[in-house]
Amino acid sequence: MPGNTLHSYGKIARSLHWLTALIILANIALGLVAVRLPMDALDAKVGLFSVHKTLGIAAFTVALIRIAWALIQPRPVPVHPERRIETFLAESVHWVLYAALVLVPLSGWIEHAATEGFAPILWPLGQGLPLVPKSPQLAETMASVHGIFAWLLIGAIAMHVAGALKHAVIDRDGVLARMLRGSPAGDAPARRHRAPALAAVAVFAAGAALAVAPRVEQTQTAAPLAQAASGWRVIQGDLGFSILQMGTEVEGGFSDWTAAIDFDADTGTGRVEVTINMDSVRIGTVTDQAKGAEFFDVAQHPVAVFKADIRPEGDGHVAQGTLTLKGHEVPVTLPFSLRITDGVATMTGEASLDRRDWNIGQGYDNESSVGFPVRLEVGLTARS
Ligand code: HEM
Ligand code: HEM
Repeated sequence: MPGNTLHSYGKIARSLHWLTALIILANIALGLVAVRLPMDALDAKVGLFSVHKTLGIAAFTVALIRIAWALIQPRPVPVHPERRIETFLAESVHWVLYAALVLVPLSGWIEHAATEGFAPILWPLGQGLPLVPKSPQLAETMASVHGIFAWLLIGAIAMHVAGALKHAVIDRDGVLARMLRGSPAGDAPARRHRAPALAAVAVFAAGAALAVAPRVEQTQTAAPLAQAASGWRVIQGDLGFSILQMGTEVEGGFSDWTAAIDFDADTGTGRVEVTINMDSVRIGTVTDQAKGAEFFDVAQHPVAVFKADIRPEGDGHVAQGTLTLKGHEVPVTLPFSLRITDGVATMTGEASLDRRDWNIGQGYDNESSVGFPVRLEVGLTARS
């Protein structure tokens, strides 16, 4: 029979149950492996995540169909309503499973939509979601929501499968056969309680609270830089860069740097020395990877230094010198525009660098995951 009765699951409910079980178990395995693969196996990691996300959306679709079907069908009654605690537990776990079937993929999807440039969903329907802004903070929160909810799902499945096995092996009753073969079991009248559904709501509320609880901010390991002695004092400045990650532009920057500037406004010449605290780097959701040995290697090379001579050129100026980063000193020319009014100088400049010149991301020798060019953007206001 395709539909359920009060004592049996029909073909459609059973097919949807086992299809869900298959996809969910496969996707849990994929998620657990993908998260744990090291960054130096980046191509495999990205590939697994793409499959995980795509299969996760398939699971979400099947779950919605399954829930819609369950809503319009009779729900088979508990087989042993007289065992009140056991029935309460079994039904609570069913509610947790139903809720997880929606909340786990949805939280993963929102995390993905809030992230810039990571493993894409393998479909032509776009990578973003309406109403979800690109935001590293949101992505980070949703990553912990998704992780905690996924573990709630794993715990619920463990209890669910243990219960099903207990019925088959110890009780030897018809509970597993009801889902496997559709044979009827249970003859109690249908009486529904609200407590199991409320228990599931409580479980997810606790999980969500844990995920959004304020975490201790990652502390910087390096001490902040002392302000450099300078003819021009920097009042405000931005040191940013952008790079292509999986074909999407991702922006980053440094929050701690200091500049010593000698500049003669009459001749338009001078010298600049910028020291950057590499531990202050921030880039999308991959800040920790950026600090690692493969990229900036902050532990071995905590500061970078740009030393340059300034001279006028064309309508603007250039700072020509060297950037010492990760132990490599490489010539860099930074053209910039400058405006000085009432002793306040405002400059903005841009240069395109190649990360390979500093041996950054040496394991990524093609551009499929991390592009070679890095656009450097500097803007500052200084007072003489
Ligand atoms: C792979 C091992 C699994 C086994 C052996 C199993 C077995 C069963 C059995 C025997 C029932 C019927 C319980 C009853 O008649 O009272 C059931 C129901 C259910 N299963 Fe599973 N299951 C498995 C995996 C899963 C997974 C992975 C999920 C979802 C993530 C899931 C979700 C559900 C839900 C929501 C129900 C309740 C259906 C309803 O009455 O509305 N199961 N399962
Ligand atoms: C029902 C479907 C899904 C299940 C069962 C599932 C399960 C998991 C699991 C078990 C993990 C590892 C958690 C950990 O060990 O910390 C994980 C991670 C992840 N999943 Fe899913 N997932 C599902 C759907 C999705 C979807 C639809 C997306 C995105 C479109 C997604 C994106 C992610 C991401 C980005 C991570 C890494 C989280 C991080 O940044 O730490 N997942 N998932």
